[in-house]
Amino acid sequence: MDSNTKRRAIVTGGSRGIGKAIVKELAAKFCNGIVLSDIAFVNSSDECVEEFNKEINNPNVKVFAYKADASSLADAEATINYAVEKLGGVDILINNAGITKDNLLLRMPEEDFDKVITVNLRSVFNYSKSVLKPMIGQKYGRIVNLASVVGVIGNAGQSNYSASKAGVIGFTKSLAKEVASRNITVNAVAPGFIETPMTDKLNDAQREALYKNIPLGRFGKAEDVAKVVGFLVSPEADYITGQVINIDGGMVM
Ligand SMILES: NC(=O)c1ccc[n+]([C@@H]2O[C@H](COP(=O)([O-])OP(=O)(O)OC[C@H]3O[C@@H](n4cnc5c(N)ncnc54)[C@H](O)[C@@H]3O)[C@@H](O)[C@H]2O)c1
Repeated sequence: MDSNTKRRAIVTGGSRGIGKAIVKELAAKFCNGIVLSDIAFVNSSDECVEEFNKEINNPNVKVFAYKADASSLADAEATINYAVEKLGGVDILINNAGITKDNLLLRMPEEDFDKVITVNLRSVFNYSKSVLKPMIGQKYGRIVNLASVVGVIGNAGQSNYSASKAGVIGFTKSLAKEVASRNITVNAVAPGFIETPMTDKLNDAQREALYKNIPLGRFGKAEDVAKVVGFLVSPEADYITGQVINIDGGMVM
């Protein structure tokens, strides 16, 4: 095992969808310890870990699942403490937890605006703030935030979601400037439409309409996002910080 595969990571919202693919990519190429946090597990956190161990099939990689609400600073701090206890430290943070509550603004309840901002943006503040101490102490850190193409170009019916993701992009650039001197890089990925439980809600007519705006003519896969996240935490990306990488089949160019 070389030094690149010995990193320790936290992935928020890591039990399914893009987060799950990221956990598997990190386990395959970069990490020997991963804590995935999530607000809910399909069955239990133990079964979630069992499933990952079966799929990863590498006894040198330890995966832990921790129940935490990413929108709570106390839960974020508890996750970091748990990871430090189980893994001995944290080198990589992937802020992936996110939700949608779509509606046209005229019909959008105040609480749906607040909820999306809190889960998608406030969570990035919570986890990034909590992980900085161990990362600064060890003079190494890699943070990757999940933004969205919608945070760049907007989308009718998603004013709350696009505001949260545009916020994630601004946060990424500011934090990247703050911590670059400590050898901590902070980048974001902006996926387009990716096949996950989040997009399962779209019906065929909505999909057909969306395909027309995607030059590659299809939705992406969770693995397409996970590979770019993997690149951003790899030594190949050591000189990249404050960037937003679109993974969207050409929607933004
Ligand atoms: N699927 C897409 O097309 C797409 C496109 C662009 C960006 N994204 C972003 O990628 C990330 C992952 O999306 P996905 O498609 O895998 O979604 P998903 O709904 O499949 O998974 C999201 C995960 O986050 C968890 N989560 C939700 N609220 C949480 C909270 N308060 N605390 C902790 N965990 C919480 C869920 O339990 C789930 O495991 C999100 O930030 C999303 O906004 C997704």
